[in-house]
Amino acid sequence: MSLRLVTGPGYATWEELEAAASGCTACGLADHRTQVVFGVGRRDPQLMLIGEGPGAAEDRRGEPFVGRAGQLLTALLADIALRRDDVYIANVVKCRPPGNRDPAPEEIAACRPFLDAQVAFCAPRVIVTLGNVATRAVLGTREGITKVRGRSFPFPDDPAVTVIPTLHPAAVLRNGGGALAQVRADFVRIKRALAANAGGGPAPAGR
Ligand code: URA
Ligand code: SF4
Repeated sequence: MSLRLVTGPGYATWEELEAAASGCTACGLADHRTQVVFGVGRRDPQLMLIGEGPGAAEDRRGEPFVGRAGQLLTALLADIALRRDDVYIANVVKCRPPGNRDPAPEEIAACRPFLDAQVAFCAPRVIVTLGNVATRAVLGTREGITKVRGRSFPFPDDPAVTVIPTLHPAAVLRNGGGALAQVRADFVRIKRALAANAGGGPAPAGR
């Protein structure tokens, strides 16, 4: 079944979904946040990007990828002629893990219905997972990002959607040169996948 026919589990509209997330206390991360960082961008995008979880800057601003890693992400998008508001950007967990630790499996599971609903509502053609946490959550794989990047995968919930894992921009900032070349190459793949998928069929009503 096409993702486009699926409504967010339990949510009739984006507004309902965002309201539920903004008051959520389903996991322990609720105790540490300044605010829930729901997601940002175009709500009917061709491309959706999924990160790990908010950092300090995101927790303050209420928007994903606005710190240093976010600036790199914005630049990588610009390299393939996309602006932030052409795409939708979300994280696996919506509340900042203290000290930027990895979110725990139970926190990822607790937050999952929000991500699933965002994907269902966005109905993107291409999903880019940024780093290990997002890649494992979306693909259900255990392999590390350095093994899976450079390839594309069918999205398990809808094989017509292409998943392209790439390095997390924060890791690129830490590792520099070679990592930057790899992430740039991946963004060229993303651009190609968008061009290929765009011709894949009639656009659904309302897009
Ligand atoms: N890293 C992430 O994974 N997400 C953000 O929103 C910011 C940094
Ligand atoms: Fe709820 Fe997700 Fe925040 Fe946990 S991280 S409190 S599940 S919104």
